[in-house]
Amino acid sequence: MRKPLMAGNWKMNKTVEESVAILKELASLTKDVADRDILICPTYPALKSAADAVAGTNVMIGAQNLFWEEKGAFTAEVSGPMLIAAGCKYVIIGHSERRQYFGETDETVNKRLKAALKAGLLPIVCVGETLEQREKNETMKVVEAQVKNGLKELETGNWKLVTIAYEPVWAIGTGKTASPEQAEEVHSFIRGLLPAEVKETVRILYGGSMKPANVKELMAKENIDGGLVGGASLKAPDFAAIVKH
Ligand code: 13P
Repeated sequence: MRKPLMAGNWKMNKTVEESVAILKELASLTKDVADRDILICPTYPALKSAADAVAGTNVMIGAQNLFWEEKGAFTAEVSGPMLIAAGCKYVIIGHSERRQYFGETDETVNKRLKAALKAGLLPIVCVGETLEQREKNETMKVVEAQVKNGLKELETGNWKLVTIAYEPVWAIGTGKTASPEQAEEVHSFIRGLLPAEVKETVRILYGGSMKPANVKELMAKENIDGGLVGGASLKAPDFAAIVKH
């Protein structure tokens, strides 16, 4: 059985103070939850305070990106060891917004993935097709290339540390959710691409307008093992409802 992971990606939202306040409220609302993992990924400046705010609770903290070098003259970048030192357990890699606006490719995803594992962070690798690609029936081809190239040359021992998030770009921030059937079709396709040793254990999250009203039907699908939630993770009661669905 795969333990569900309910993760919030706060993107470029919330100050340090706001982050701490939401996290304290969330930790209190979810304090009795033991059967699923809970993760919030705030902005870089808020990470350390966020990790301190949830210390001793069942809410974990992750980052939204990392750079593949450990230190040096790379202005504005942040490394894996720095994220570990700030209290992060997870890191999101290859989010579609990074791919769309910041030139992220499967090759840079792969470099970040290896750096995350080396630092001891648990990576969440995002994949997903655009609307144009879906309309041209290219969804499976696109997702397959993202999984194969983004996660290439991973040692078997490292595969079990990886989470994959399927986020159809057309469903992100649009209010338009993939139907549970549409999502499950891609999730089970992704599972089929995994090495035999980890086929049953790697978690595949769904992301794209997940909210309290649709989480149950999505999570009922066999290969949907959690969520990567944007907008609806910014309010503690909404995200707590998603966690407890
Ligand atoms: P929304 O939940 O706001 O659609 O965002 C999804 C997402 O991109 C999570 O990483």
